[in-house]
Amino acid sequence: MKQTAKLRVTYRMEDNQLQPSPENASRTEDALEVVAKTRQAVDEPHDVMETPPNLQQLINELNRLVGLGNVKELVREIRAYVEISRRRQSFQLKNDGLVLHMVFKGNPGTGKTTVARILGKMLAELQVLPKGHLVEVERADLVGEFIGQTAQRTREQLKKAMGGILFIDEAYSLARGGNKDFGKEAIDTLVKAMEDNKNDLILILAGYEQEMEKFLRTNPGLRSRFPIHLNFPDYSCNELLDIALMMIKERQYQLTAGALDYLRRHLQEQIDKNTSNFSNARLVRNLIERAIRRQALRLVDKRIYGRDELMQIMREDLMATQNEVNVWTMPD
Ligand SMILES: Nc1ncnc2c1ncn2[C@@H]1O[C@H](COP(=O)(O)OP(=O)(O)O)[C@@H](O)[C@H]1O
Ligand SMILES: [Mg+2]
Repeated sequence: MKQTAKLRVTYRMEDNQLQPSPENASRTEDALEVVAKTRQAVDEPHDVMETPPNLQQLINELNRLVGLGNVKELVREIRAYVEISRRRQSFQLKNDGLVLHMVFKGNPGTGKTTVARILGKMLAELQVLPKGHLVEVERADLVGEFIGQTAQRTREQLKKAMGGILFIDEAYSLARGGNKDFGKEAIDTLVKAMEDNKNDLILILAGYEQEMEKFLRTNPGLRSRFPIHLNFPDYSCNELLDIALMMIKERQYQLTAGALDYLRRHLQEQIDKNTSNFSNARLVRNLIERAIRRQALRLVDKRIYGRDELMQIMREDLMATQNEVNVWTMPD
């Protein structure tokens, strides 16, 4: 605080003596900027606090993801919440305890698994979870076909996930078949494990938004155990293009202008078609990976091995041929 006050006073004194001139105007701006920065630093200790390098790396990794503004915001919130809970604890202030079980709602390929993986590592860095690894399961990994098998399978997966995150994809499929189904046994086993291992395990239920809403509506007891809900909206055409460009750059390739134009038009076409199996960023990844294979074939066929050509993805590498599986509508 002292530093801000001092700076402010110095600035005011100088300001009184300033004569209007372009040079002084810029000095005033500089001074204002310094004051603003200092004030911000003092008011928001969070920003000047040293972030451990591993945590910073994960924050960068998350921020590099295209779009997902709400997800990034919530992760910031969780980080702050963890920090404040710890500080409150040191003053013996009331702490409700961190309950970080979550529901991720969104279509395939919208980044749910990717975010969960980064989040797990972050929570380990923040010492909220001992390990922070991600164990991704679906119904078949938890539910058996005979009596007794389900509890055993579910406990096995829980054991693997202990210290990290158990990520249950298409979680509503556990409620398939109602009360007679073994899925219910899996849910009961999971709920019990959540209570018994409060500090060692986070559960994330993932899946399509509508199915998830219905599932939680019909299982109110479950809903109250998952305080954090995150929506993963479909990506816009521009976001998908950005994702494509990012993936290409990471792999040290480039798109020609023709290829970029083709990609833009076809992504928009796919979005407009509104098919139910459109898999967002996963579609983009499949498409890029296929283009890379087709570029390789084109270069080998023509014996072109120059550095620039080795990097270039052309329109024809992206285009679907008639007798091959159409990646645009390929199921996952
Ligand atoms: N916002 C994003 N920015 C960059 N790549 C992304 C983004 N969202 C998803 N991806 C990529 O798309 C692919 C599918 O994402 P994933 O997390 O598996 O989706 P989901 O679990 O929702 O089906 C992964 O290769 C991932 O890296
Ligand atoms: Mg997934």
